[in-house]
Amino acid sequence: MISFCQFGAGRIGQIHAANIAQNPKARLKTVVDVSAGAAKALAERYGASVGDPKTALADPGIDAVLIASSTDTHADLVEAAARAGKPVLCEKPLDLDRKRAQACLDVATKAGIPLMLGFNRRFDPNFATLHKQLRDGRIGRLELLAITSRDPGPPPLDYVKVSGGLFRDMMIHDFDMARWLLAEEPVAVMAAASSLVDAGIGNLGDVDTAVVTLKTASGALCQISNSRRATYGYDQRIEALGSKGMLRAGNVLESTVEFSGADGIVGEKPLHFFLERYAAAYRHELDHFIDALENRRTPMVTGVDGVRALALAEAALEGSKTGRAVTL
Ligand SMILES: NC(=O)c1ccc[n+]([C@@H]2O[C@H](COP(=O)([O-])OP(=O)(O)OC[C@H]3O[C@@H](n4cnc5c(N)ncnc54)[C@H](O)[C@@H]3O)[C@@H](O)[C@H]2O)c1
Repeated sequence: MISFCQFGAGRIGQIHAANIAQNPKARLKTVVDVSAGAAKALAERYGASVGDPKTALADPGIDAVLIASSTDTHADLVEAAARAGKPVLCEKPLDLDRKRAQACLDVATKAGIPLMLGFNRRFDPNFATLHKQLRDGRIGRLELLAITSRDPGPPPLDYVKVSGGLFRDMMIHDFDMARWLLAEEPVAVMAAASSLVDAGIGNLGDVDTAVVTLKTASGALCQISNSRRATYGYDQRIEALGSKGMLRAGNVLESTVEFSGADGIVGEKPLHFFLERYAAAYRHELDHFIDALENRRTPMVTGVDGVRALALAEAALEGSKTGRAVTL
């Protein structure tokens, strides 16, 4: 039985806590949140106690730490957990600054703790199947990858202010997906971005619409399309073109029911947003972390992946500003 201490009882923290509770090999022992009310509500739901960071990390009864607090707390908490010798599953991103993320990774590596990063989309059953078929050689050599990721609507401006911007907050998932599917590091990044959806986002110096092209040393290309608005719902698709064919993972719809009438055929919209769309992925992600700890294996997604995705985000941001390709 793996006893967890979880930092953060907000949106994603509630999902992780529920997943810890449903895993027969784990239990939620302690919840830490700067909001006492949020910590208490979540702890009570799962029979856990409310703790403070120092006591919780010093507790020999805590086997693992899940960090689901606000982004600006991640690096410090990972380091504190590493110094206490506790394995960590940390939400993305490790930090908004690549150098700070690397320093944090160095502390975790020196401490020798397992550090898994919350790139949950690798655990989505559809994307995992696409990845497996790709590695099994079903489409031969991968030549062109297209990753589409569009939110149903823009986030509140208060969120945008602290998010780190579209590339580090949103496209970071797609950079990780690209690296995972390409199985090769991109060596060049070309980016174009605009603020078309919400003028407020532009006024804050951020963008809400972006296209990035990645090129690997072997010449494989990946195009990522992001928008903070898709009127038809959360648009999450991947298409991989290879020498022997194509693999495609489409949207997961609210239902498979379709209406057909004289004017045409109407299907359901994609599941509304990430909490619904990636419910299974968050569950599998946590199960993977627990299995990795139990079997002393390195998790599939580590802090190294977190830093590499951040490097791509920084390159895309730079490229979108200069209009020039950035080589890595
Ligand atoms: N992988 C994903 O799909 C995904 C989805 C959503 C959010 N996230 C990430 O998860 C993190 C949390 O996002 P959210 O949407 O749940 O935010 P949220 O604001 O709903 O929750 C964050 C919680 O952290 C708490 N907190 C702040 N500082 C803290 C500290 N020092 N110690 C303990 N708790 C503290 C806040 O009080 C709040 O309850 C962010 O880093 C975000 O990028 C990842």
